[in-house]
Amino acid sequence: MTATLAPSQQILTPQLEIAGGRPLSGELRVSGAKNSALVLMAASLLTEDQLRLRNVPPLTDIEGMAEILISLGVSAKRDGEALEMNGSGLSQSAPPYELVNSLRASFFCIGPLLARLGIARVPLPGGCQIGTRPVVEHVKGLKALGAQVTIEHGVVSAVVPGRGHRLKGGRIHLDCPSVGATETLMMAAALAEGETVIENAALEPEVIDLAGLLLAMGAKVRGAGTPTITIVGVDRLHGADYAVIPDRIEAGTFLLAAAITRSCLTVAPVITDHLGAVLTKLEEVGCHLDIQGTNVTISAQEIQAVDLRTQPFPGFPTDLQAPFMSLLATAQGTSVITENIFENRLQHVGELQRMGAAIRTQGNTAFIEGVSRLSGAPVQGSDLRASAAMVLAGLAAEGITTVQGLEYLDRGYADFEGKLNAVGASIRRLS
Ligand code: EPZ
Repeated sequence: MTATLAPSQQILTPQLEIAGGRPLSGELRVSGAKNSALVLMAASLLTEDQLRLRNVPPLTDIEGMAEILISLGVSAKRDGEALEMNGSGLSQSAPPYELVNSLRASFFCIGPLLARLGIARVPLPGGCQIGTRPVVEHVKGLKALGAQVTIEHGVVSAVVPGRGHRLKGGRIHLDCPSVGATETLMMAAALAEGETVIENAALEPEVIDLAGLLLAMGAKVRGAGTPTITIVGVDRLHGADYAVIPDRIEAGTFLLAAAITRSCLTVAPVITDHLGAVLTKLEEVGCHLDIQGTNVTISAQEIQAVDLRTQPFPGFPTDLQAPFMSLLATAQGTSVITENIFENRLQHVGELQRMGAAIRTQGNTAFIEGVSRLSGAPVQGSDLRASAAMVLAGLAAEGITTVQGLEYLDRGYADFEGKLNAVGASIRRLS
């Protein structure tokens, strides 16, 4: 006879319970960019001096990265919205497996460790829900800088042979404009001997933010934000006090929250150059945008279908594909979304269908026939951005939606439900 738990004792999977159909109004504040802060934290390994990073978002991925750096000997302390870091105590060249296994961004350590110590052992970042997430370009580039790299039993071991164990500058051509590979190689090249040229480099704003920090630390970097980045290595880098850019993906998610609830909201701060493709698409679907400096006020009544294709920056960002699909599920007409960056990033389609969305997929393409109203249902987010997409759908749906997958959501959105409740949403966190 199996014991049954009384309702009050039932153990709930952490979930958000959303009462849909409420209009939003007010202002949503955008936090610092997760995908910039994580790589800037890894740059603390490049110097023995104090590094102060401001506007660092309070996210589980940030905590995870701090734990990894601390395990290597770096000191990392939170000071309000800033992180105080110091790499003078760097004593390890291999972060512990159990720490890095859950955090892909841990791979950002390999470049700085090689540059500083001439040796690094970092587990391969596992694949995840959205794809295999290879690091072929990262490894190819490190070899071009003189590192000997082997991969055995899921661990990437790299060493710089020869006297002084110092990387040597070289010419690298990336097969694809990988954000992580570009950032890894910029950090490795900053302390290498001689000049490094990275061709077909990623153009994302987070790459430019990393270049800004490296320059503040005394590195010689030019061309960030263009396909060719040139770095002339220096003997050492000093500390810096540097502010992380606002999170363009969180900003886009909030703009979509206004659009899907047909509300008027102000989202700030937004660097509009970081979101050009998204702002254009929001106007194409019928939103009105009033841009005053870094404040974007969005209002939406009728939403029309559009087609979109995810591309490397400055194209439409893959990280906003799922949230935008939630909006298009409620648009008038049929939209087509093509996911060109990751091989498995349409898993949210099934969850949206449970809420009454009329979507069918063919390979990496989704055909979305807008419906007048989604209906609340229990749904699951399969990755960070899919979880956010399900919350947005819940805001617009009739009735109650429960969203599981908060372990993903909390990686990339600080106090997501708190911020949305402050502008009129009705979301409870149950755990
Ligand atoms: C960064 O991942 C972001 N993560 C991702 O954000 C983002 O979706 C992605 O860039 C694309 O913009 C961080 O910055 C921490 P890539 P990254 O290397 O660096 C292929 C989120 O939700 N590729 O530019 O891993 C790869 O398979 C996350 O915040 C190779 O083929 O992305 C993918 O299809 C998700 N070979 C494409 O390039 C390689 O050697 C983009 O990958 C490397 C990558």
